[in-house]
Amino acid sequence: MSGKSSVKIAPSILASDFARLGEEVRAITEAGADYIHVDVMDGHFVPNITIGPDVLKAIKPYSDKVFDVHLMISPVDFYIESFAKAGAGIITFHPEAGPHPHRTIQSIKAAGCKAGLSLNPGTPLEFLWPLLHDIDLVLVMSVNPGFGGQSFIESQLARIETIRKRIDAEGLPVELEVDGGINFETAPRAIAAGANVLVAGTATFKGGPAAYAKNIATLRGGA
Ligand code: DX5
Ligand code: ZN
Repeated sequence: MSGKSSVKIAPSILASDFARLGEEVRAITEAGADYIHVDVMDGHFVPNITIGPDVLKAIKPYSDKVFDVHLMISPVDFYIESFAKAGAGIITFHPEAGPHPHRTIQSIKAAGCKAGLSLNPGTPLEFLWPLLHDIDLVLVMSVNPGFGGQSFIESQLARIETIRKRIDAEGLPVELEVDGGINFETAPRAIAAGANVLVAGTATFKGGPAAYAKNIATLRGGA
């Protein structure tokens, strides 16, 4: 899973112009995005409210890329089918959203999606290990979830390294994604630590549509 060509960039549309959401999704797709990262917040699990399945359904036709849906909501299970039907390819949730993370993974897969587990900066890795063989993706939060534009929390690099070692040692086909505060300075460090998917909101959308391709290429490290 090493090498720059294997690094995927998942722009978070949270930092896009919501008044032009479809066009923004098309623009990042044409600019080289690998996944379209959709941050779903409920004002309860995190202190912000963003978008729901109807908006996902509306933007889905604007990209042929995988929609990487990051659920920061509690409870999760009731909404899985709606997001799957709306076009999610990957559905990632937080184990604290409860009450039964393993069942939630089963439900996501039964809905035809890949399953991701997200760890907040303070979530013990013990939440991950029993589920590592059942998931398709680990999402390490390098900020506390809720808002874009926050600063990268350095302590998460060591956790990425630990998870990368375990994934490789066991030869698992699990993607390792990092989310929060990814910019031109932190991206290479997250990649060096072992991440192979980088979520980037602010750093992708900075400068407007004319800058998206260069921003994505620079984040990927292959520019
Ligand atoms: C935070 C979200 C992130 C956020 C990243 O709760 O999960 O995906 O949009 O934004 P930046 O890249 O600006 O830190
Ligand atoms: Zn996210």
